[in-house]
Amino acid sequence: MASDHFNSQAAKQVCAFHKQIRNYAATPLLSLSALAASWGVKDIFVKDEAKRFGLKAFKGLGGSYAMFRILCERFLLDPETASIDDIKKRVKRMKQPLDFITCTDGNHGKGVSWAAGLFDCWAHIFMPAGTVEARAEAIRNAGPAEVIITEMNYDDTVRYAKAVSEKNSWILIQDTSWEGYETIPTWIMQGYLTMVQEITDELKTIPTHLFLQAGVGSMAAAVVAYMADYYGKNKPETVIVEPEAAGCFYASIKADDGKAHSVESNESTIMAGLNCGTPCSVAWPILRDQAEYYVSCKDHATETGMRTYAYPLADDPVIVSGESGAATLGAAQTIMADKELEDIRKMMRLNEDSVLLFINTEGDTDPENYQNIITEKNY
Ligand SMILES: Cc1ncc(COP(=O)(O)O)c(C=O)c1O
Repeated sequence: MASDHFNSQAAKQVCAFHKQIRNYAATPLLSLSALAASWGVKDIFVKDEAKRFGLKAFKGLGGSYAMFRILCERFLLDPETASIDDIKKRVKRMKQPLDFITCTDGNHGKGVSWAAGLFDCWAHIFMPAGTVEARAEAIRNAGPAEVIITEMNYDDTVRYAKAVSEKNSWILIQDTSWEGYETIPTWIMQGYLTMVQEITDELKTIPTHLFLQAGVGSMAAAVVAYMADYYGKNKPETVIVEPEAAGCFYASIKADDGKAHSVESNESTIMAGLNCGTPCSVAWPILRDQAEYYVSCKDHATETGMRTYAYPLADDPVIVSGESGAATLGAAQTIMADKELEDIRKMMRLNEDSVLLFINTEGDTDPENYQNIITEKNY
């Protein structure tokens, strides 16, 4: 049952692991009260994952925890009690280095590269065509990793990385699952629980609405399952936000046959982290059964979100939010500001009693594009 994997009990163990990491610190949970007043809602909270481990995104939480679990299993260590040092000692004694492999559109690969450094392992990171050099370079700088940019899209690059892993006996550490490959992605999803536990530890009010961005849906599903377990019948209503160019959850819900559907599009999107056309098999049933609303949006929505975070109202804090990080705020802003969307606001019960929770999942992971967007250069 999903609730067993993504509950407070599971989160405790995950958090205990992350707290072993030298530069661990809970990321800020910020209140945007001036923005809330301007939207006519009670409050807006933003969990700022741009500050996570110096990686500018939440993703390292998942890659590091999964690597920890894989290595505990390999060395027959109990994850409840094993330390990073226990693992490093055993890695050192190995005759062959331990190789991990993954496909990424940026942030997950950076997390895996960084995690490989934590455990003295090595990572091979495959990226889809169109990857900007800044993202590849950030992965090389994060840890011991080689980066290969393919000529394929994200979904085909995942399949390619899987084939390369089998050929070389490298360990595939992928942040999406499919039939027969679910244990490691589930550990990755559990890794994200540290972020949600930090939120529920700190938040004094129960949010009424939770806006989550989805690529393959792993992050959103882990958060939603945990929130449902933690808040029970008071769980916030969840809004899943995707780019129009890769709206696989939107399309799957629309198909209304209970099954996950892949989408393919010739359109591109600047929301690189969300540009995934196939739902994660572990995430799909969780979101299908527990998320209430699905929004697919164009790039200008996230650009609006990025600028809203960058130029706050009154005393609200400045938040640096990248293309995938700001999609949810941008989508919400469109819903709140557009006069013609009154019915949608009513249906979603977005009103003066609403407490909205967002996760800024990344900072300026493509700094040049970030600057262009917030200063509206070339836009
Ligand atoms: C910044 C950012 N936000 C959100 C996501 C979406 O996570 P998931 O693919 O688990 O849906 C990603 C995925 O890479 C990401 O990089």
